[in-house]
Amino acid sequence: MGREGSKVERLGSKIAQYIRQYNEKIDAGEKPEDEALKISSACQELDAFVTSPESWTNRVALAYNSSIAICLLLDMNIFQLISEGDEPTSLDTLVERSGCSKSLLRCVLRECVAKSILDEPTSQMYQLNRQSACLLDINGAAWIHYLCDVGLFTGAHLSKYVAKNGGQIPVYRHETAFQMAHGTHQPFYTFFKSCDPKKAERFDKAMQWSSRGSAGTPIESIFDFSQLRPGAVVVDVGGGRGHNSLRIAKAQPHLSFIIQDLGASLPAHGVTDDADILKGFQWQQHDFYNKQPVKGADLYFLACIMMDNTSEDCCNILEHLVEAMIPNKSILLIDDAIDISEDDGYSLANPMNMHLLACFGTLSRTMEEWKILFSKVPHGLCIINHWIVDPGRVTFALQRTS
Ligand SMILES: C[S@@+](CC[C@H](N)C(=O)[O-])C[C@H]1O[C@@H](n2cnc3c(N)ncnc32)[C@H](O)[C@@H]1O
Repeated sequence: MGREGSKVERLGSKIAQYIRQYNEKIDAGEKPEDEALKISSACQELDAFVTSPESWTNRVALAYNSSIAICLLLDMNIFQLISEGDEPTSLDTLVERSGCSKSLLRCVLRECVAKSILDEPTSQMYQLNRQSACLLDINGAAWIHYLCDVGLFTGAHLSKYVAKNGGQIPVYRHETAFQMAHGTHQPFYTFFKSCDPKKAERFDKAMQWSSRGSAGTPIESIFDFSQLRPGAVVVDVGGGRGHNSLRIAKAQPHLSFIIQDLGASLPAHGVTDDADILKGFQWQQHDFYNKQPVKGADLYFLACIMMDNTSEDCCNILEHLVEAMIPNKSILLIDDAIDISEDDGYSLANPMNMHLLACFGTLSRTMEEWKILFSKVPHGLCIINHWIVDPGRVTFALQRTS
């Protein structure tokens, strides 16, 4: 056997070994997360090895086709249409119900079948599989729709952005690929809220899903909110429609919450209809680049906020919070992304990094960069605890030092 054949054999037996370990974990009632990652990465290595370099690089370069295909199927509501029947749905039925050209729809469906997003049990008959079934969740679909649509359009302008900045990422606020793509000076959130309410609404829904789905562990399983005194005030800064706080409040009804956001006024749809829980809630319009109006709260919560901001803007946001905090009382809880790529090959932050760069002109921070950021905030912030529960995600509890 030649060198190539023996590499295929080696990878094949590695995969078989990982599959055994995967099954052992399942039998023991444990989650085989590491084993699943090892199987995927070894299978990908094998796939790349047995594919010609020309085909492989072509495939990688055309990866955007999958984003386009999912986006189009979501635009045309095709996943919902397929879900309506008990049997696989024919191409003709989908053409009739969607009003879309047959050849266009066939081409898009073919791409999704090739990427295991749909099944085609017999020719031109389509059914949902495990992957596409999760797109029936309205918030899950919103997240994927956002990634395909905004992500692709914005990402397409990264090369112009990188050329303009001479290959550097400025630490101060600057024109992002998102702004180049949309021909606007407005930042991401204000642009959507003022110019494209439909996409703003979709993003809010996406956040409700991503904080539950992709982030994995909910924040209340990381930080113990029961340690806060009865009546303690939690300020959810940039809290969107309050989905995180509403979830926390269900388990900790002794707390009260202030949800601050740019246009904050509404509770998250479908998260709660419990009027008693809502009594402990206030929604407040606040721009976190300005002075924090709630002084001396027990806890200020920043979930997925720093990742959208350059270091200079993060410093500004933190400075306003520290000014409002009382030493030895107020806690600042930051739940965000961390770049841990040096320690481990896989991190949730890695696939999001280029998206963050395109939309916000920043990347996820390493632990060292986080510490440098905190050290720059006037009055001082010290880390009292930190947790890395899901790969690529960090939670810090901090207090004001003076
Ligand atoms: C990535 S989302 C995070 C939402 C929520 N904290 C979560 O974890 O799901 C960022 C949020 O920050 C809000 N935001 C952006 N710029 C803001 C600003 N200048 N002041 C207040 N909120 C802002 C957005 O409207 C959005 O709801």
